[in-house]
Amino acid sequence: MLESYPIYINGRWLETENKLDVVDKFSGEVFARVSVSGEAEVDAAVSAALEAFRQSPLPPYRRYEILAKGSALLAERVDELALTITREAGKVLKDAKTEVLRAAQVLQIAAEEAKRITGEMIPVEAAPGAENRLAYTVRVPIGVVCAISPFNFPLNLACHKVAPALAAGNTVVFKPSSATPISGINICRILEEAGLPPGYLNLVVGGGNEVGDLLLRDERIAFYSFTGSAKVGKRIMATVGLRKATMELGSNSVTIVHKDADLEKAAAACSRMPFVNAGQVCISIQRLLVHRDIYERFTEMLAAKTRELVLGNPLDADTDLGPMISEAEAIRAETWVKAALAGGATLVSGGKRRGALFEPTILTNVEPEMKVVCEEVFAPVVSVIPYDDFDEAVKMTNASKYGLQAGVFTSSIEIANKAARELEVGGVIVNDTSVYRADQTPYGGVKESGNGREGPKYAIQEMTEPKLVVFNLDVLS
Ligand code: SIN
Repeated sequence: MLESYPIYINGRWLETENKLDVVDKFSGEVFARVSVSGEAEVDAAVSAALEAFRQSPLPPYRRYEILAKGSALLAERVDELALTITREAGKVLKDAKTEVLRAAQVLQIAAEEAKRITGEMIPVEAAPGAENRLAYTVRVPIGVVCAISPFNFPLNLACHKVAPALAAGNTVVFKPSSATPISGINICRILEEAGLPPGYLNLVVGGGNEVGDLLLRDERIAFYSFTGSAKVGKRIMATVGLRKATMELGSNSVTIVHKDADLEKAAAACSRMPFVNAGQVCISIQRLLVHRDIYERFTEMLAAKTRELVLGNPLDADTDLGPMISEAEAIRAETWVKAALAGGATLVSGGKRRGALFEPTILTNVEPEMKVVCEEVFAPVVSVIPYDDFDEAVKMTNASKYGLQAGVFTSSIEIANKAARELEVGGVIVNDTSVYRADQTPYGGVKESGNGREGPKYAIQEMTEPKLVVFNLDVLS
């Protein structure tokens, strides 16, 4: 008997006729079914969120208490929640556990930020003509937030949307990825148990575009927080008009290894990071730019370490990377690699596919116009590319249509500073890879990597408005 999961609207758990199968990404077996939302459920979810927002705003200390309790519950249930992530996303169990603990952190950080939402005094009297006026801003919640989360971090990236939205005093309609809906349902269960009253968080599920389109067209939603592809991000921005949105989109991220870097440390990091979560991380190392003086040696070190990685069952303790999200996605990645090889690229390691399992793959002799280089590959594939001087590495990085994060390994403060100043990305990581992320940092990109920033403090800024208040003190006695 398959476990059946309902949707969550206005504090009620609802079964619908229409169901979506949830597949174990390693075994391919359907292990659960989730109720799918239709027009009526989407309408009810948005109505409930709007009603809660308008009728009964939660004071900041209650938001703190609920999110902090939610954080504790997540941490208590790490094993069970991680197992769900592993089954529905194919992520190796040790990484899934890390994801749950990160999600607990995100809720705790958001809880703390709920107590620090302030406006500012505006010195209006600094300019003539505003004598005897008092002006200040308060940051007010924006309204109903629509959170649309991806499959690659089904718990943590959803928490990065839901938790700051609630911390800011907003209410939420949440649509998890249809590939990984159970982690989303688990967030709702936990926040309900933590004391979140009905209507503040509502969950809808949809398999195709229908639910997404209904959400985008619903003018009662004030804000969209989306993580996914640039293609979908552009469609969202084109539909939501003047309403605000944060878009966390893709990238073909660079990590640069300069000739003065600690090669052992760089090779250790660079041999694991392109392959974490089977490369399905927006900041995964896709282009590894290596100074020509160390290029051959570094590529050999990298290949040797990469060959040690274990591809297989994500439940096994010694597995380093599991399946991609679907066989179709693995076939797409394989096609891109084959096209690169046909165009003259060299296969240093990997390249083979078994179902949704794709070997950690290193390519050299690639060209800038190959898809594995210029598009987001979102698979365990890295291209190692030589450069002669650092300006060239900067130029290659900035030639991308994307700009999320970049890493640079160097022992030179001058090179590090040049990278920090000149790389056109949302974050520069010195002596670590592009994949580094701490959940309290601002996270987001430039160009086609999106707009706005996540990280609870920064997401709260996005999801609130500064409201100006001016007192004319002349007429107050
Ligand atoms: C992402 O894929 O954008 C998220 C990366 C992370 O949170 O580690």
